[in-house]
Order: sequence, then C-alpha cells, then structure tokens
Amino acid sequence: MSLPSDAFRHVASRPHEPLRTFHPRRATLGRDREHALAHLWPRFGFSVHDDELGPPPVTATGALDTVALYGRDAPLVLEIGSGMGETTAAMAAADPDRDYLAVEAHLPGVANLLVLLDRDGLTNVRVAHGDALDLVRRAVPPDTLDAVHVFFPDPWPKARHHKRRLVQPAHVALLRSRLRVGGTLHCATDWADYAEQMLDVLTADPALVTDGFVPRPAHRPVTKFEQRGLHLGHEVRDVVARRVR
Ligand SMILES: C[S@@+](CC[C@H](N)C(=O)[O-])C[C@H]1O[C@@H](n2cnc3c(N)ncnc32)[C@H](O)[C@@H]1O
Repeated sequence: MSLPSDAFRHVASRPHEPLRTFHPRRATLGRDREHALAHLWPRFGFSVHDDELGPPPVTATGALDTVALYGRDAPLVLEIGSGMGETTAAMAAADPDRDYLAVEAHLPGVANLLVLLDRDGLTNVRVAHGDALDLVRRAVPPDTLDAVHVFFPDPWPKARHHKRRLVQPAHVALLRSRLRVGGTLHCATDWADYAEQMLDVLTADPALVTDGFVPRPAHRPVTKFEQRGLHLGHEVRDVVARRVR
C-alpha cells in the first residue's frame, strides 16, 4: 500500500483542542521524503490522530500493541519531538535491544526519519505523526516505558506562551506514570530558564529522583537543535530523572 502525500494532514491547534506544545507549521517535502512517506509509512509509521493514515495497532484494551508493532517484546523508549530524526536513528542503532517510538508533529521530520530508517536498515524504530501527549494519554498504559526522551523541546520563550511548554508538572506526571519503576525521563535544553524549569518540575515530582544537571551522557548525540543553540553560544543542560516508586 502506498499513500499520497496529501493524505498527511497538518496537525494544527484548533480552538476546541487542548493547547499544543508545538508550533503549527506548513510542510514542504522534497522528493526523497515524498517517496519515503509513500513507500515506508505502512511499514514504519502510524498516526496518533483519527485520520485516514491509520491508527496504531492496539490490543483489546486499546493499548498500543508493541508486539504487533515491532514483532517482538522489548523495552520501549519513547521520544517526544524527534525533529528530523537523526538522534533517534543514531541512538536506536547503538541500542538494538530496545525499541524506539519517535513521535513528531512536523511531517518533514517524520518523513526524514523514514529515510534514515531505510538507509540504515533499522528495525527497532517506529514513527508516529501527531501529538505525543495525546498518544500517551490514550494508548500507552501505566508502568510500561523504559525511558522517555525530550530533547530540545520548543522553548516557547515568551512568558505568555510558557503554558505551552512540554516540560511542566501535568505533562511530567503523565509521562512518569507511563514509565516503569526504574525507568528514566531524560530532558535537555539550551534555554537557561527552561533548564531551570525542567529541573524544578522533575525535582518536585514525588516519584522522580534526579542528580541535578548532568553532562550530556555519551549515548545522547548532539542534536540538530542543540547544534543551533551551541552556535548561538547557549549553554546546554541535561536532566535525567528516574522513577523510584
Ligand atoms: C525544537 S524541535 C527539537 C527537535 C529535536 N529533538 C532536536 O533536538 O533536534 C522540537 C520538536 O518537537 C516537536 N513537538 C513539540 N511538541 C510535540 C508533541 N506534543 N508531540 C510531538 N512532537 C512535538 C516539534 O514539532 C519540533 O519538531
């Protein structure tokens, strides 16, 4: 089965929908990404939203059916906002015993990751288009994820937009509830005040423990947005929180 690219609807904020943590953006796709969407989507992709792209495989209880999705039962890493997918592809290639689910609202990023999966022959990555928080609320059962990665989320620098930030108490409580005990929530940003917010929010969650800011762990490659931040002279901060109960 192949899908026409116009089957991919733009995920935008509408007045009746919850506040989104991403910027609605129009998508332009090049030839390789068009091709990847048309040919690789049925194998590697699904839509978070109820549209013609097809929902994820789910069990009788409505939970994401990871065995159907990956063809095996392995620890699952969720990445929220995978951007163009280079980091996801590199981390998944170096970590073949875990499965990776990259969720991205911006279609060119979804398509680019499909190109990388094909190029690198990766079998432990699946890609979802849409709002990761919607997917987590609806289809990721409590106590299941091995790790959640939130790398360089949109900073929403204006104070009146801070309510759109991904790392805030309600979202962190949701994500923590989906981690297994011992699982980790790894966040990174190059925005100083967002880094402080991340540390405050993760530290305040009674079921999470952090070591404060830590140097970039060796297993996390420098991301595309991080490179941009470094170029601007921004300091990068990582926080890794572990669920302890
Ligand atoms: C600043 S970019 C960083 C991308 C990548 N992690 C990197 O470091 O290069 C943030 C990305 O997160 C995506 N995003 C934000 N909120 C999201 C959500 N709730 N669900 C899925 N994607 C989201 C945006 O579309 C955007 O591509």
